[in-house]
Amino acid sequence: MEEMMKELPSGLLRVIVSKKDIKQRVGEIAEKISNDYRDEDNLVVIGVLKGAFIFMADLCRRLNVWHTADFMAVSSYGLGGEESGAVRIIMDLRESITDRHVLIVEDILDSGATLNYLMRILGSRKPASLRTCVLLDKGRSAIETPVNYLGFTIPDVWVVGYGLDFAEEYRTLPYIAEIRKK
Ligand code: IMP
Ligand code: MG
Repeated sequence: MEEMMKELPSGLLRVIVSKKDIKQRVGEIAEKISNDYRDEDNLVVIGVLKGAFIFMADLCRRLNVWHTADFMAVSSYGLGGEESGAVRIIMDLRESITDRHVLIVEDILDSGATLNYLMRILGSRKPASLRTCVLLDKGRSAIETPVNYLGFTIPDVWVVGYGLDFAEEYRTLPYIAEIRKK
């Protein structure tokens, strides 16, 4: 792996998903989504800020189906990466999703609280359909969370890069790496 050759930035332990593997998988997911929505003309792809912004940009640019993009910002963790419990809307959508086919794009499934909250909130706005696309799953979600399109299942460690942060750092790394949290 090209990232293995170079030294990782300090604090990072190992690459979990390489740039090459991300690119390949995003292409596969985009193809699946394009195929599933090929007969629809009102898909809205909703990126969950901030973590999903890079995945969202790469994914949308590879869709071969008509769609618009919108964003929502939610928060469930404090700045230091500590769990604070409740999910809050920091920024809501700009457009109505009533009667639209909605695809939520999220960076990672951890406890499942964020995605469940979003499904509930967006589901109550009467979309024509509601599906989820998640890049990473730590496989520890206690809540029953339906993920329609999944990138990778990863170990239960804190990861950064490709949109994901630790205390706002490392978001723009081109790969996904494990970080030493202490
Ligand atoms: P959940 O609500 O516990 O499923 O957590 C989901 C949110 O927590 C994600 O949208 C991320 O913003 C954040 N998160 C969870 N695990 C990680 C991680 O390993 N790295 C970076 N962010 C994470
Ligand atoms: Mg997030």
